[in-house]
Amino acid sequence: MKQSVYDLTQQHRSIRQFKDEPLSKETIKKLVQAGQMASTSSYVQAYSIIGISDPEIKEALKEISGQQHVVDNGYLFVFVIDYYRHHLINEATEGNMKPSLESAEGLLVGTIDVALAAENVALTAEDMGYGIVFLGSLRNDVAKVSELLGLPEHVFPLFGMAVGVPSEDEQGSPKQRLPFEHVFHENKYQSASTEQLEQIKQYDEDIQAYYEQRTNGQRSESWSAQISKMMGQKTRPDILDRLNEKGFIKR
Ligand SMILES: Cc1cc2nc3c(=O)[nH]c(=O)nc-3n(C[C@H](O)[C@H](O)[C@H](O)COP(=O)(O)O)c2cc1C
Repeated sequence: MKQSVYDLTQQHRSIRQFKDEPLSKETIKKLVQAGQMASTSSYVQAYSIIGISDPEIKEALKEISGQQHVVDNGYLFVFVIDYYRHHLINEATEGNMKPSLESAEGLLVGTIDVALAAENVALTAEDMGYGIVFLGSLRNDVAKVSELLGLPEHVFPLFGMAVGVPSEDEQGSPKQRLPFEHVFHENKYQSASTEQLEQIKQYDEDIQAYYEQRTNGQRSESWSAQISKMMGQKTRPDILDRLNEKGFIKR
């Protein structure tokens, strides 16, 4: 019996080691078409997907991300917020779209559109038996990514996605998520800090055990510790400037 989409979601885990088996042109097209059928705010379709087939560009993107799986995969996509076409329509029609193009709301709409399209691509790839990993590490140098990919104004790179046949060395199991009760709130947000922290404490213990088991005891870190460390660092402080340069979030 064919597995359900629900079953597929429960099996997800990021794959970072792939076999040297490039995706066919048909598969690439199918994945992009799957992305295109995602819901999109007000039919705005504020995204593009850039496929990287040039080994030199791939290599340069790997340098930016610092991750080998950016280059060693079956195919690499880069997902960008894209209001360039809207900007062109605005110019051609002498329209009044500039405030929307430059608004914080426009940035949210575009980001949501990209994420929805990307998850459709991811699920479809996984349904075809491929593994995927998202690559936010491309935002380590947004200016360089923009230059390499020739991104015009009103286009901003959000992340990449490596897709491919999982290598045999890719052992592992799905990473347990936060408890259902912790992320699902009925009618009103449950902000009681004692309950919130209690649920996180149990989760921390589970995640610590997961890391210990997965790394033969070499990594022993709770989810809270991991997140505190990550979010305690000031990451990519230039993003607002880069967004502004591309015509985003000016109002
Ligand atoms: C927007 C986004 C960016 C990510 N960037 C990276 C990345 O640069 N490199 C990487 O190895 N994994 C990256 N990931 C994968 C996450 O680390 C991963 O999804 C998370 O740890 C949960 O693990 P799982 O996907 O195996 O369940 C990214 C995920 C998302 C959604």
